[in-house]
Amino acid sequence: MGKTISCSVLLALISCFYLLFATALDTITPSKSIKDPDVIISQNGVFRLGFFSLANSSNRYVGILYNQIPVQTVVWVANGNRPLKDSSGILNISDDGNLVVSNGKAEALWSSHVNNTAPNATTAQLLDSGNLVLSNGEDGASSLWESFEDPSNAFIETMKISTDVKTGRKVELKSWKSIDDPSDGNFSLSLEPFNSPEVIIRKNNQLYHRTGPWNGNSFIGLIDEYTAYLEGFDVVADNPQQAYYMTYDFSNDSMLIYIELDSQGKFIERKWDAGKGNWINKYSSYQTNCDVYGYCGAFGICDSSKRPICSCLKGFKPRNIEEWSRGNWSSGYFRTTPLQCQRDNNNGSGAGQGDDGFLEMKMMKVPAFPHPSSISNGQCKDQCMNMKNCSCVAYAHDDGIGCMLWSGDLIDVQKFSASGVDLYIRLPSSELDKGKSSKVIVITTVTAGIVAITISALFLWCGMAKQRGTNKRHKQIKHKSYSENVGESLIGVKLQQLPLFNFEELATATNNFHPKKKLGQGGFGPVYKGTLDDGKEIAVKRLSKASGQGLEEFMNEVVVMSKLQHRNLVRLFGCCVEAEEKILVYEFMPNKSLDAFLFG
Ligand SMILES: *[C@@H]1O[C@H](CO)[C@@H](O)[C@H](O)[C@H]1NC(C)=O
Ligand SMILES: *[C@@H]1O[C@H](CO)[C@@H](O)[C@H](O)[C@H]1NC(C)=O
Ligand SMILES: *[C@@H]1O[C@H](CO)[C@@H](O)[C@H](O)[C@H]1NC(C)=O
Ligand SMILES: *[C@@H]1O[C@H](CO)[C@@H](O)[C@H](O)[C@H]1NC(C)=O
Ligand SMILES: *[C@@H]1O[C@H](CO)[C@@H](O)[C@H](O)[C@H]1NC(C)=O
Ligand SMILES: *[C@@H]1O[C@H](CO)[C@@H](O)[C@H](O)[C@H]1NC(C)=O
Ligand SMILES: *[C@@H]1O[C@H](CO)[C@@H](O)[C@H](O)[C@H]1NC(C)=O
Ligand SMILES: *[C@@H]1O[C@H](CO)[C@@H](O)[C@H](O)[C@H]1NC(C)=O
Ligand SMILES: *[C@@H]1O[C@H](CO)[C@@H](O)[C@H](O)[C@H]1NC(C)=O
Repeated sequence: MGKTISCSVLLALISCFYLLFATALDTITPSKSIKDPDVIISQNGVFRLGFFSLANSSNRYVGILYNQIPVQTVVWVANGNRPLKDSSGILNISDDGNLVVSNGKAEALWSSHVNNTAPNATTAQLLDSGNLVLSNGEDGASSLWESFEDPSNAFIETMKISTDVKTGRKVELKSWKSIDDPSDGNFSLSLEPFNSPEVIIRKNNQLYHRTGPWNGNSFIGLIDEYTAYLEGFDVVADNPQQAYYMTYDFSNDSMLIYIELDSQGKFIERKWDAGKGNWINKYSSYQTNCDVYGYCGAFGICDSSKRPICSCLKGFKPRNIEEWSRGNWSSGYFRTTPLQCQRDNNNGSGAGQGDDGFLEMKMMKVPAFPHPSSISNGQCKDQCMNMKNCSCVAYAHDDGIGCMLWSGDLIDVQKFSASGVDLYIRLPSSELDKGKSSKVIVITTVTAGIVAITISALFLWCGMAKQRGTNKRHKQIKHKSYSENVGESLIGVKLQQLPLFNFEELATATNNFHPKKKLGQGGFGPVYKGTLDDGKEIAVKRLSKASGQGLEEFMNEVVVMSKLQHRNLVRLFGCCVEAEEKILVYEFMPNKSLDAFLFG
C-alpha cells in the first residue's frame, strides 16, 4: 500500500503539468490523453505505458514496460512498424473510440481498429498483469480490445496464446526485426491444435521449431531437464470455440519470469535476478541444430551428440549422397527395401498385414503430425499393423496422449540422451533380421582391427597395396568409402591418434573456407587457418580437385606425415575424405617458417 501511495504522489506531480482532469492514473479516457514523455502506471506500479526509445535509435515508440526493474524491458509495442521520428507523439482515444498513436501532424501511426458504438464512454486501462484493456462500459465487463490479444514478442504471466479453430484467429507472438528494431521480424510463435496441441515457431510462415505434443503435463518433444523450466505452464481448453490456449502462472509471486520470441526465432525464458540486477536465461528453444524442424530431412534422425548429427533410420539411405556428404541433409532418406504391406498392395492382394515388424527406438522426440487414436496402450502396435495399405509406418505411446500413429514421411525425429518417448518404426522383417547379422559384422571388424594394429608396420604397406586395388571403388561409393575403406587402410597408421574429421566440422572451423582464413596456396590446393569447437587452432589443407593428387598420393602423404611426427615438423592431426573432398588437418604454427613445407 505504501508503495502505491508514494508512486501516486510522484506521478501526480508529473501528471499535473499535462492533465486537466483528475482521473485514475492507470487509465486513458477521451478527455485524458498522454503525450511524450508522459506515462500511466498500473495500480500497484508493476507496469507502465508510455513512450520509449531503444538503444542506438532516436525513434520513439509507445509500449508497455516493467516499471519496477532497472533494466528497460518492453513487453508490448503499439507502433513497432511505424516509429515516431520525434517527441511530438500522442496516445489518445479518438472520436471513433479507438486507441490511437499519432504524431505531431495528427497522422495516426497505429490504431486498435475496433468498431466502437459508444466512443464517449471509452477508457483504456493498464492492469497490473501488463494487459491494456479498451472498453466502453457497455455489456458490463466485455472489452473491445486488449494488448494481450494483440501481442508483440513477449509472453508474460496470465497471457494466453491461442488458436480459434472455427475462425482461424490466432493470438501469436511475433519476433522483432532486431533487438533495437521492433518492426515485424521473420518468426512467429503459436499454439497449433493439430491432434494434440503443440507450440510451433514459424520462420517466414514455414515450420521452424516444434515442442512436440502436450501430454497434459509437458511437451513431449522437449528434453526433461527443460520441461522443468516450464513449470507453471498449462495448455487448456475451456472454451469450445477456442480448442486450446497456452498460459502460465506462478503461484510464487516473488519469481518474475518473462518469455520472449527473439529476433533469431528462439523462445527464451528469463528470470529476474534481483541480486545481479538483470535477467538470467533459464531456457532457450534452440540448443542445437537438431531443434530446427526437419533438419535431417524425411526419415532422418538428429542426434546432437553424434558427428555427423544426422543419420538414417535403419533400412533407409540418403536420397542424395553428394549433398548429404556435404552436410546438407534436407533431401532426407529413402526406404531401401519396401515394406511387406507395400508389396502386398502392389500385387493387388490387399492382404494387409504381412511380414513386417517394428524397430524400437528409445528416448526419441516423436515425428511431426501424429494421427489421433482413441486406442490406449497395449494395442497401439496391433492398430498400426492392422491399418491397411501401409498407412501406418510408426507408432508411439504416451500415458497422457495415448497411441500416436504416423503415416507417410517421418519428419523431425530426434534422439535424446535422456527422457523422450519410445518410438516404433515399421520395417520389413528382412531389415529387422539384418540388425542381428550386422552386429556380428561389427564384432568381426573390431577383432580384425585389433589384429591389424598389433601387426602394425607390415600391415601398413599391405594396406596401401590393397588401397591401390580398391581405388575405383572408392570413387563410386564416395562417402561410405570414407569410413570403411580409408579407415581400414589407416588402421596401420595409428588410427587411434589420427582422427577422421568430417567435412562439416572443418567447414565450420574455417568459416566455410572463407578467403579471409586462407593462409596460402600450395601446389596441391589452398591452406586455411581454422579453429575447432574446443578452441584448438588448425591449418587445413584442402586438396583441390585440379591438383591431380589422387587418393593414392593423398594416402601416401597421410602415411608419410603420420610417420614423421618429429617435434620440429608440423604435426598431422587428422584427415577427411568425403565425396570429392580430400583434406589434411595440421597443427597450426603461428611462426610462418614452415610455410614452404605446407605449401611445397
Ligand atoms: C549501440 O552502439 C554501440 C556503439 O556503436 C555498440 O557498442 C552497442 O552494442 C550498440 N547497442 C546495441 C543494443 O545495438
Ligand atoms: C487525438 O490526437 C490527435 C492527434 O493529436 C488529434 O487529432 C485528435 O483530435 C485527438 N482526439 C481526441 C479525442 O482528443
Ligand atoms: C467494423 O464495421 C465494418 C462496417 O460495418 C465492418 O466491415 C468491419 O468488419 C467491422 N470491423 C470489426 C473489427 O468488427
Ligand atoms: C460524444 O461527445 C461529443 C462531443 O464531445 C458529442 O457531440 C456527442 O453527442 C457525444 N455522443 C454521445 C453518444 O454521447
Ligand atoms: C527475414 O527473411 C528474409 C527472407 O528470407 C531475409 O532476407 C531477411 O534477412 C530475414 N530477416 C531477418 C531479420 O532475419
Ligand atoms: C518463492 O521463490 C523464492 C525464490 O525463488 C523462494 O525463496 C521461496 O521459498 C518461494 N516461496 C514459495 C512459497 O514457494
Ligand atoms: C540443400 O539441398 C536442397 C535440395 O537440393 C537445396 O534446395 C538447398 O539450397 C541446399 N541447401 C544448402 C545450404 O546448400
Ligand atoms: C507379386 O506376386 C507375384 C506372384 O504372386 C510374385 O511373384 C511377385 O514377387 C510379387 N511381387 C512383389 C513385389 O512382391
Ligand atoms: C489406404 O487406405 C485408406 C483407408 O482404407 C484409404 O483411405 C486410402 O486412400 C488408401 N491409400 C492408398 C494409397 O491406397
